[in-house]
Amino acid sequence: MKVFVTRQIPETGISMLRKKYSVTVSKKNRALTKKELIAGTKGKDALLCLLTDKIDMRVLKASKKLKVVANYAVGFDNIDVKAASKLKIPVTNTPGVLTDAVADHACALMLGISRRIAESDKFVRAGKYRGWEPMLLLGGDFRNKTLGILGLGRIGSAVAESMHRGFGMKILYYDIKKNMQFERSVKAKFSSVQQVMKNSDYISVHVPLLPATRHLVGAKELRMMKKSAYLINTSRGPVVDEKALVKALRKKQIAGAALDVFEKEPKLSAGLAKLDNVILTPHTASATNAARNEMSRIAAKNIIAVLSGKKAPNAVNPEIYQ
Ligand code: DGY
Repeated sequence: MKVFVTRQIPETGISMLRKKYSVTVSKKNRALTKKELIAGTKGKDALLCLLTDKIDMRVLKASKKLKVVANYAVGFDNIDVKAASKLKIPVTNTPGVLTDAVADHACALMLGISRRIAESDKFVRAGKYRGWEPMLLLGGDFRNKTLGILGLGRIGSAVAESMHRGFGMKILYYDIKKNMQFERSVKAKFSSVQQVMKNSDYISVHVPLLPATRHLVGAKELRMMKKSAYLINTSRGPVVDEKALVKALRKKQIAGAALDVFEKEPKLSAGLAKLDNVILTPHTASATNAARNEMSRIAAKNIIAVLSGKKAPNAVNPEIYQ
């Protein structure tokens, strides 16, 4: 059987696949165009793709033999899952294995933006450091401050745990459902999006990108935030209205933002990169060796299961099996 991998990923999973199948890994060191995706998928039994690949009906139908689409990511908004379900093709993701990596990055961004690490580094490198000053680069505090979590999945919970236990933060959270065990564990309070926006000193976004979460944080929500508050986004760019965020940051309506994801990646909204009160990282929250190796292994494991006639362990559309 034949597998197409749209870009080089860590060898862990690729070598698992090579032991059983004929594997083609794209040699282009960039995201593929639609035409290239279709050409690569043609005649294949499995597709291992990335969050930068838009997998729509045309790509899914490029191979009559296609049996599984394994996304090398936990998010899967790049895939038309409904179309895949219509064709009874399981779509799989890589949950769990990148929780710590992404949560750690969100915490790092929170600490970094509040304590002005990037700005301070730039300041010292520019030769502006003339000696200790009482009012130089003052930042925010964490102990007894409130962290608002939007989306209490694995990653949101891990961020809350770290910042509560490690930094003594109070936790508010919004999710589509309450989690009593989590509330007891970190003394968290369930809140509406509006309450989270109004009452938090730091807001960390962890919802998946869905029609209902697009621009969940828009101009109106940004206006609700405290002037001293920070926004951290490691989920998906379009969850935050980036243009509205640039305006809010320019006007100093909020204290700062730290973003690992952008609305139109890899493009940034005009003016964003010029601001001092932001930290920008290139969608690297899951970029640890351990996480990326495990993501590779899980993607391969899902393909092997399906091509061996079993159910995909991480299907995001398990309804196809009913
Ligand atoms: C994911 O897996 O969805 C992450 O965004 C990758 O970093």
